[in-house]
Amino acid sequence: MALIDLTGPDIELLLTTLYRQYGYDFRQYSEAHVRRRIMNRFILSGLNSMTDMQARVQNDNKFAALLLQDLSITVTEMFRDPEFYRSLREKVIPILKTYSFIKVWHAGCSTGEEAYSMAILLKEAGLYDRTTIYATDFNQQALDHAREGIFSNELIKDYTINYQRSGGPESFSSYYTSQYNMVIIDQSLKKNIVWANHNLVTDSVFAEVHLILCRNVLIYFNKDLQNRVQTLFLDSLINGGMLCLGTKESLRFGEFEDRYLEIDRKQKVFKKKY
Ligand SMILES: C[S@@+](CC[C@H](N)C(=O)[O-])C[C@H]1O[C@@H](n2cnc3c(N)ncnc32)[C@H](O)[C@@H]1O
Repeated sequence: MALIDLTGPDIELLLTTLYRQYGYDFRQYSEAHVRRRIMNRFILSGLNSMTDMQARVQNDNKFAALLLQDLSITVTEMFRDPEFYRSLREKVIPILKTYSFIKVWHAGCSTGEEAYSMAILLKEAGLYDRTTIYATDFNQQALDHAREGIFSNELIKDYTINYQRSGGPESFSSYYTSQYNMVIIDQSLKKNIVWANHNLVTDSVFAEVHLILCRNVLIYFNKDLQNRVQTLFLDSLINGGMLCLGTKESLRFGEFEDRYLEIDRKQKVFKKKY
């Protein structure tokens, strides 16, 4: 295994090439994350130097595609952090009930588990028929997987436990059909979900929404990029609209804190002030 000293300029050069040649801009991602992922690909590929890696990114589309996948961490679950979903049931759904139609945006939806969880929650509250869920990500591979709504049996065991812990009142198996070692998400949950490619670094507001979930995405961004994305969210939310962040993410001490009220401090649920 080759040992290298991955310098700041090495990283900058690679990221600039990824941006100029392939259009994906990771230059404002957290340096620790980018460094870890580049190093991981370097080791897996058995390369000898950063000059070799730079040449591969420049001349080999398939290698660049691998590195792009490496930089996008797609780990997710249905009803991830069940206490958060309990909070949605108890504190957010009652507010959503006051609207005659509802628009929800999942920013960084990965392979779709979060959006399907929301569809279940809204269905159980009798709100799904008047909702549109926009589920976006910049990772087309993850989006294609999400649209299919096919997950392995192994994963479903954990998702069932999460669902029960979140206070789910139904039998979780009523939301999918099993085939061999896979499960297929029920068509009725898919009908109001719009899957779309949207890049939080470069794309802009596309709808006015009542609720945004952007969980476990901002942790990969540096402060400037987090601010850009927070502006995007503020401009996308109606007054009184709600924003949900991941457990390790926060509005605290940032310039956006004053624009929101806390609905659930622990579960990171906020409401845009009027
Ligand atoms: C760790 S997953 C989180 C998935 C889900 N929100 C959850 O909490 O389970 C992070 C997702 O953010 C997406 N992402 C990262 N950078 C992005 C960007 N610039 N624009 C859109 N999505 C991005 C990744 O592709 C990945 O699917």
